[in-house]
Amino acid sequence: MGFGRGKVILLGEHAVVHGYPAIAAGIERGVHADARIAERDLLRIAPWNLELEPDAKAEEPLQRAFAAILEPYRERPPIEVNATAELPAGAGLGCSAAIGVAVIDAIDDALGRPRSREAIGEAALVWERVFHGNPSGVDNTMSALGGVALFRRGEPLVPLTANKPLHLAIAHSGESASTKEMVASVRRQLEQDTDRVTQTFEGIETLVRNAKLAIEAGDLIALGQLLDLNHTLLSSLMLCTTRLDSMCQAAREAGALGAKMTGGGGGGSMFALAPKREEAERLCRVLGPNAFVAEVRA
Ligand code: MEV
Repeated sequence: MGFGRGKVILLGEHAVVHGYPAIAAGIERGVHADARIAERDLLRIAPWNLELEPDAKAEEPLQRAFAAILEPYRERPPIEVNATAELPAGAGLGCSAAIGVAVIDAIDDALGRPRSREAIGEAALVWERVFHGNPSGVDNTMSALGGVALFRRGEPLVPLTANKPLHLAIAHSGESASTKEMVASVRRQLEQDTDRVTQTFEGIETLVRNAKLAIEAGDLIALGQLLDLNHTLLSSLMLCTTRLDSMCQAAREAGALGAKMTGGGGGGSMFALAPKREEAERLCRVLGPNAFVAEVRA
């Protein structure tokens, strides 16, 4: 069996693509996969009834991504993988990375070639590259390792420790968005308006650094304020939609300590920070039927 977690970027998305730090958390919902030796290579993904063969030259990215994952396995028999996603796709919750991690984990298991979770996370970067062009690596890393951690491209992951879990209410806006397009839009803004966007990234880095301290000190009030500020800076990069803004505002009015969009933006998901689990459950009722609670432990 293989498993890849979904993830929530607490602070620092987009800036992380350009070498700034981000704080992310693995969540319990993710992707489960099972692999077995078969007559031909095949990947099925439920609940979308997808069935595909690997093909490095295919137009369908999933076929290219599956081929990229299989490529490094030397002298192996044909393999069939059945994956089941518990996360919505295009929702900013790391569904794509979680599929890559779960598929690799399941193949390793079926071939009796175990490796560390770190190595599985790294191996899943080839899958992510097919979809996102220039992924920072935060999604595949957090999908494999979980916990709450400070991630910076090219540097070892820094796990954070705190004595209290974080209670999040996570909700999908219902607007699906392409991370690749949103990353490309931020890159264009950086090229055209370098000073403004660099200052925004630096502002985000300051929020990330303070959030690390707030998480470690268990200061949820400060963390909530930092989330709100990060949402505003992401808005200035044109990553938030009216729907995401109004969901965050509704959560704040209902008592959330802070709320922000998470992931690629342009739609996708938001989350709100609650002081305790019952409060997160109450926020979910405000945010709508697809909202769910995630308890993340640093
Ligand atoms: C996507 O979950 C997070 C982004 O920062 C892209 C990336 O880190 O590769 C938007």
